[in-house]
Amino acid sequence: MTRLIFLGPPGAGKGTQAQLLSEDCQVPHISMGDILRSAVAEKTELGKKAAFYMNAGELVPDELILDLMRDRLDKSDTASAGWVLDGFPRNVSQATFLDSLLEDVQQPCEFVVNLDVPDEVLVARLLSRGRADDSEEVIRNRLEVYRSQTEPLIDFYRDRQQLVSIDGNQPVDTVAQELKALINE
Ligand code: AP5
Repeated sequence: MTRLIFLGPPGAGKGTQAQLLSEDCQVPHISMGDILRSAVAEKTELGKKAAFYMNAGELVPDELILDLMRDRLDKSDTASAGWVLDGFPRNVSQATFLDSLLEDVQQPCEFVVNLDVPDEVLVARLLSRGRADDSEEVIRNRLEVYRSQTEPLIDFYRDRQQLVSIDGNQPVDTVAQELKALINE
């Protein structure tokens, strides 16, 4: 059973590592960014509202996404196999919400993994990827939003002895191996 949260700035490799780990451990990979991008592509009501914030590099308001996360963690696959969360929580109120949700569904988190990568590497990675929200201006704002709203979660989880940091500025396979070693410890 694996239940793990990835923290880290935009471009740190959360999605990449979450996907590898989910395949390796056969657990669902739950990416709030992917859920929102699907909603945008399908032009749902949520997607239309979310696109405005995503295109600006701002967080989508909590009231649009908290129920989505509750519904996702209520599905039977997560109860039986576990989960890898990528891109949630992203602020203290989401973390507090998640705490009480995990208690309700009796699925305690095992690890919170913070991927450390210097800003200049993040910007270079994202510029070369070129997703819709990967323009230089939007990347800078995503980084600012990360510093002000998401980075405080490092202390939030460190205080409960759940936090582990991994150097994300290494080849993908090396990061994945360090992660695997950590989980199997
Ligand atoms: P989201 O999709 O979560 O984007 P993000 O956090 O900005 O993360 P990225 O996908 O850019 O980076 P990543 O860390 O996953 O790295 P990746 O593996 O992709 O969110 C997008 C938007 O949705 C947000 O801005 C917000 O508007 C909204 N949103 C999402 N969640 C929300 C929430 N909870 N609340 C409110 N709003 C929310 O890798 C990046 C690139 O680097 C790739 O090209 C990859 O190939 C490369 N790479 C990865 N690892 C390495 C490595 N070790 N070496 C070299 N290259 C690497």
